[in-house]
Amino acid sequence: PRRVRVQHVQAAKEAGERLTMLTAYDAPTARIFDAAGIDMLLVGDSMGDNMLGHANTIPVTMDELIPAARAVTRATKRAMVVADLPFGSYEASPAQAHASAVRMMKETGAQAVKFEGGARVAEHVRLLTSAGIPVMGHLGFTPQSENVLGGKRVQGRGEDAAELLCEDALALQEAGAFAVVLEMVPAPVAARATEILAIPTIGIGAGASCDGQVLVWLDMAGMGGWAPRFAKQFAQIGAELEKAASDYAAEVRAGSFPGREHAYWE
Ligand code: KIV
Ligand code: NA
Repeated sequence: PRRVRVQHVQAAKEAGERLTMLTAYDAPTARIFDAAGIDMLLVGDSMGDNMLGHANTIPVTMDELIPAARAVTRATKRAMVVADLPFGSYEASPAQAHASAVRMMKETGAQAVKFEGGARVAEHVRLLTSAGIPVMGHLGFTPQSENVLGGKRVQGRGEDAAELLCEDALALQEAGAFAVVLEMVPAPVAARATEILAIPTIGIGAGASCDGQVLVWLDMAGMGGWAPRFAKQFAQIGAELEKAASDYAAEVRAGSFPGREHAYWE
């Protein structure tokens, strides 16, 4: 299959076809989501809380995200692989963002990067885009700023905040971003941003009017543990996996696994 590229993402918005995105942090899940036809796979810094046992995304490093992005890229044929730039790897300057993004692209083969912020990172987006690196923006609740935002809270509430969010979205578009994630934003505000932007919005906890949706895969697959209200569980993989492990343990203890067919006889 042809790799999903920025022009396909833009064409989807223009055709009114909704885009699909999930996180992936390793080869086996990336292979499954690619086969399922998910358009974009995000090697998110949500790896921190979802895979590495951290409380949030703040401790995640380039050195942790790079092997994950490499595995996801190797395991996909069609999905566009977007890699997050982690906290501390881009905020200081466009040059810092460029160095981190170049390293990510060179060492992983990811086709785009994502980082958080609006007007304050517009120059970063402009430099990267002009240097050949597609950038996805991320507005609304931006987890790397949770200590400033006062926790996991809906953003863009009230007319002033909604106006600011739309201005940030336009600043990202004007700087060359090819899409923008809207996280935990009131549905009407996300709808307004989607309406005024020429580039696609990818919502998470932002209602159905966005041009696409993204979810953390562990949340949508019911892997267990805390999941936000906006994440519908499309399966209960955690419970299924626990059952597989306990059935295995029971059969080993009973001596019924391995059976004759699981052994070599000569
Ligand atoms: O890291 C992540 O998973 C994300 C999505 C929630 C958009 O940034
Ligand atoms: Na992220």
